[in-house]
Amino acid sequence: MSAPVLRVGVIGAGNVGAALVELLGDPSRRAALLDAATAELELVGVAVRDLTRPRPGVPRALLSDDALGLAARADLDILVEVMGGIEPARGYIEAALGRGVSVVTANKALMAEAGTELARLAHDNGADLFYEAAVGGAIPILRALRTSLAGERIERVMGIVNGTTNFILSKMSSEASDYAPALGEAQALGYAEVDPSADVEGFDAAAKVQVISSLAFGTPLVGELISREGITGVRAVDVEFAQRMGYVIKLLGVAERVGPSGISRRVHPSFVPREHPLAAVHGAMNAVFVEGERSGPLMWLGAGAGGFPTATAVLGDVLDAARNRVSGRHDVPFTVDDTLHSVPTEETTSVFYLSLDVLDEPGVLASVAGVFGRHGVSIQSMEQFGVGHEARLCFVTHAARTGDVTATLEGLRELSAVDSIGACIRVIDGGEQ
Ligand SMILES: NC(=O)c1ccc[n+]([C@@H]2O[C@H](COP(=O)([O-])OP(=O)(O)OC[C@H]3O[C@@H](n4cnc5c(N)ncnc54)[C@H](OP(=O)(O)O)[C@@H]3O)[C@@H](O)[C@H]2O)c1
Repeated sequence: MSAPVLRVGVIGAGNVGAALVELLGDPSRRAALLDAATAELELVGVAVRDLTRPRPGVPRALLSDDALGLAARADLDILVEVMGGIEPARGYIEAALGRGVSVVTANKALMAEAGTELARLAHDNGADLFYEAAVGGAIPILRALRTSLAGERIERVMGIVNGTTNFILSKMSSEASDYAPALGEAQALGYAEVDPSADVEGFDAAAKVQVISSLAFGTPLVGELISREGITGVRAVDVEFAQRMGYVIKLLGVAERVGPSGISRRVHPSFVPREHPLAAVHGAMNAVFVEGERSGPLMWLGAGAGGFPTATAVLGDVLDAARNRVSGRHDVPFTVDDTLHSVPTEETTSVFYLSLDVLDEPGVLASVAGVFGRHGVSIQSMEQFGVGHEARLCFVTHAARTGDVTATLEGLRELSAVDSIGACIRVIDGGEQ
């Protein structure tokens, strides 16, 4: 019996879309794709914005600039959205899902914004909505959470989910450089955009944390703003202090249980112990570290971006959607757990590293220590660097409530002996709960 034929449309032929078209058309993969999809996949259209642009590898006859027309095609089985952005991508996806066409997307921004609604639309129309490539590029973390770990109680997920910031922090660490030259190098090598704010301010990582958390814990995807802090305030001196103390600084996206029904989701620079697996993730690589109640710690590592790595994840989703289509079933993308509540970051507890520029004069230490004490933040260790106007105090606290540390910082700012607050960075697994 010959295999059924499923029609696939792709919106976007940029880094990811062009790589996907190449993988779908690669004759050496044909048999494997047929086996995995249990169907012939026929690429019926590729929608782009600018038809005049040369697109080697994309058959001319398949190209059009009518994305909505492709999404609404009556004979379409699977729509792949790899154009990015919220609108009009959302409208195209809704047009497909609304008619029962399965959708594969790599769009983390859209999933974080409207994932719950899109998942409902998919389910109501008997279609699949897969988005593996939205987090960690080639790393199959969402599928692992959705299937292999579906029966496990996840306690915490920590990820290095933004390659640009990891590249910059790795440079700062290996070359003892400051933030600005490391960013410049990332831009020159194409790892950072001309406007790097989505990456360096943590917006990209925050969207990924939301997507991970929806699968790990059942938190909704409704465009909530989660606590976010980027890497622009990290200085060479902090990186150096971290190294001397046995840590490396990483931008972590964290989603974790707090108490019986709380979930904390946040993005921030963190001191990671040198022996922690995440500390060994260098350059533009991504990694996701999962702690399950019974599974223990697990980690996935790989290319978090790039046309082909990302396209492999998209292709895996296309194959899943195809198999489901043939067997007449569909997956539920994730189930929202209404019993959970979001815990404000101020209520979470952590060990903190703080650095202050101070005047080197008698009594400074006592007044600084007094502010810590007044807010119930106890000091684990302290070091002074430099003298006179160059004096800097670096503290590591015992585990403290984030809100108390914030109040301590406000109190310290008011001291005449404190010139400026340098950094306030969480220390992972230094007593964090
Ligand atoms: N690049 C990565 O490494 C990576 C990794 C993970 C996830 N993602 C996600 O994958 C998606 C695509 O990323 P990318 O890097 O491939 O983007 P890209 O290189 O900028 O490509 C975007 C493509 O979408 C097309 N497009 C844009 N607006 C359109 C419209 N209104 N109608 C039809 N086509 C339109 C563009 O057409 P023109 O070519 O005519 O401009 C282009 O071909 C994004 O959601 C991104 O977040 C990317």
